[in-house]
Amino acid sequence: MRHRDDQLTVLPPSGLQDRWSRQVRYLRVSLTDRCNYRCTYCMPAEGWPLIERTGLLSLEELARVIRVFAGLGVERVRLTGGEPLVRRGVVDLVREIAQTPGIQQVAMTTNAHLLARHAQGLWDAGLRGLNVSLDTFDPERFATITRGGDVAKVIEGIQAAQAVGFTDIKINAVALDRLNGDDAPALVEGCWANGWLPRFIEVMPIGSLVEQRRDRLTSEQVFDRISRVHPLRWLERTNTPNGPARYAVVTEGPEAGQRVGFISPMSDHGFCSTCNRVRLTARGGFRPCLADDHEVSLLQAIRDGATDESLAGLIRQGLAGKLEAHHLRTPTRAPVSTMTGIGG
Ligand code: 5AD
Ligand code: SF4
Repeated sequence: MRHRDDQLTVLPPSGLQDRWSRQVRYLRVSLTDRCNYRCTYCMPAEGWPLIERTGLLSLEELARVIRVFAGLGVERVRLTGGEPLVRRGVVDLVREIAQTPGIQQVAMTTNAHLLARHAQGLWDAGLRGLNVSLDTFDPERFATITRGGDVAKVIEGIQAAQAVGFTDIKINAVALDRLNGDDAPALVEGCWANGWLPRFIEVMPIGSLVEQRRDRLTSEQVFDRISRVHPLRWLERTNTPNGPARYAVVTEGPEAGQRVGFISPMSDHGFCSTCNRVRLTARGGFRPCLADDHEVSLLQAIRDGATDESLAGLIRQGLAGKLEAHHLRTPTRAPVSTMTGIGG
């Protein structure tokens, strides 16, 4: 991400830079491992053993850790889960983060099931970015994938968010052949009709679920399926928003000019080269890479009485271990932690 000149001066000399000269400006925070859905590629039917209340950072502790990250150069924070909207006090936390010096954007990734009732509060608190996990518009398939979810409620939630002012809403769909593979054209059309930006994510082997091993679709395969209906052309990375997604544009037909994104952690070997993000897990672990179980427990440090300076020191130390690239293609090196605890 490039900086406006007037902001360069307020950055600490080195900011947060890893060993591979990647500048970290983006923190993803999992607020809880709980979720009101149980997507088959994310959780087993019976769920995971849940983290006890004391095993989570409190809202005050979260706000403090985020202040420390901001002091180190983090500018954008995304709240995830589990499902961030099931965490009590989330709106107050958003307000607190939005007011933290140095933080320029607060965003959230949600399944939107509870979004209709929180949309106004979140907007007023300063939330500006919204990514919604939504794999299909087909009600039955949606219920199967999420194990009981209600797609009508999700759509209502997203529309409520638009009504209070949210723009640039992104829809993230995990592409799985048996579940939603032939829905890709319908999904992009529904998104375009509402002014949402659809993006497809290749499923990653995190948490060892069978759904992650069968029915995987690569971005190329989804691209081809959409292209048969809406011809697509890849855009240069430089013409697209920041982040790991690559975008394609419809070249002809009634939808010409519409865009679709592809997030390809499995098939794109250059995926990690521009990584600018780190994570805070639901357990209060500082995790430099989604796909690497190496973590530093900031929760433990805080409970042991750490000062802000020593937290900053732990973060810098942890960052030194950030992998150059993930090993998700090597089955024996995939992480054992769960997506809900890490934050997707
Ligand atoms: N691989 C890829 N994406 C996943 N998500 C959850 N589990 C996986 C996985 N194993 C997605 C969710 C959501 C985001 C937070 O992560 O669907 O879009
Ligand atoms: Fe919940 Fe998201 Fe996991 Fe689905 S993918 S179970 S919505 S945390």
